[in-house]
Amino acid sequence: MYLSREEEKMLNGEFGYAKQVAMEILVALGEIYNAEKMIPIKSAQISGVSYKNLGEAGIEWIEELSRDGRVEVHTTLNPAGMDMERWEEMGISRDFAEKQFRIIRAYTRMGIQPTFTCTPYLAGNKPTLGDHIAWSESSAVVYANSVLGARTNREGGPSALASALTGRTPYYGLHISENRVYAVKIDAPELDDEYDFALLGYVSGRLSKGRIPLFTGVESANQIELKALGAALASTGGVAMFHIERLTPEYMLPPIDNVEEIDLGKEDLKNAAEELNDGVEPDLIFIGCPHASLEELIIVLERLKGRAVKKKTWICVSRTIKDLSVRLGIFQKLEELGVKVICDTCPIVAPIVDLGVRSIATNSAKCVWYSRNLNNLKIKIGRLTDLVEEATRGCF
Ligand code: F3S
Repeated sequence: MYLSREEEKMLNGEFGYAKQVAMEILVALGEIYNAEKMIPIKSAQISGVSYKNLGEAGIEWIEELSRDGRVEVHTTLNPAGMDMERWEEMGISRDFAEKQFRIIRAYTRMGIQPTFTCTPYLAGNKPTLGDHIAWSESSAVVYANSVLGARTNREGGPSALASALTGRTPYYGLHISENRVYAVKIDAPELDDEYDFALLGYVSGRLSKGRIPLFTGVESANQIELKALGAALASTGGVAMFHIERLTPEYMLPPIDNVEEIDLGKEDLKNAAEELNDGVEPDLIFIGCPHASLEELIIVLERLKGRAVKKKTWICVSRTIKDLSVRLGIFQKLEELGVKVICDTCPIVAPIVDLGVRSIATNSAKCVWYSRNLNNLKIKIGRLTDLVEEATRGCF
């Protein structure tokens, strides 16, 4: 693998310990994937922020890198294990909070922006068409590749951090145009809202098996729907990119030979919804996976029609979106009605089971997938409208 003089110097430790470790990680990765060289990146997004996922060994590794490591590009962070301001109210223990703050201090010492969101593109880290980036967080990766037309592989937390520290990533995979073409064509049924898009993603992810799908039959898709689709696809199929005919920026790239064609009907989505329902009374109603946009907060407020919630209800957002909602008075109105607008975290990366939650109702197929498989929770999936009714009346 070709390395420039500067990259060689990083590898030899001439720019310090952190850059050396980072370059070792990237070279190892590049060799595994036969990358011919490194390329510069414009931004990084780093997962592996919650103490729940990192543990002691993770904290020590990040603290060690933070001694002399400084990032070279705009770098943002994935959600942490708690709301940085409301952690006590959430029921987070002091011990967990102290460990979490240690992690945050180490990351910020490296020059990383403490955004704590899986929607960096709604919080100031928004690459454009053709930008090479190194992002971890599967839902953000699929959104960046598919909707924004930026170029990133599905990085893990360590490789994204290594790229941030060096400003480089190995040139392979989705950084190369030929690898961004579709291999499976999926004709979608009529889709009504973000819930249908999430179910489409759930079903298609399993059918795509890591290949890039092109969706046909989708008339229009808004930002909320696109993030729901991508998050679900990335969860069930490890998919890092999709195209939608006429809607996404690179859908016209010619496909591979022997494209598989799949026709999905309403019945397939209905079956998926049944599969994703455990038929339980939820302890928590959760909206915001991936983190909700300002528009989603407004939609929830409008659908509440002034009614207070009777069940524990969280909407998770980035601090950027929360600040905007405070300025517009939306945050205050939601909180007055009993909805908790939680920042910096989500029920998957927070120690939710320790907080007494055993079941969740949500409109996110990604949240369902991870709540079941990681946290062993019981699940109910439903449309946003139904979740709001559940929150105010107690059933749907
Ligand atoms: Fe974000 Fe948590 Fe969902 S990190 S994508 S809200 S699982």
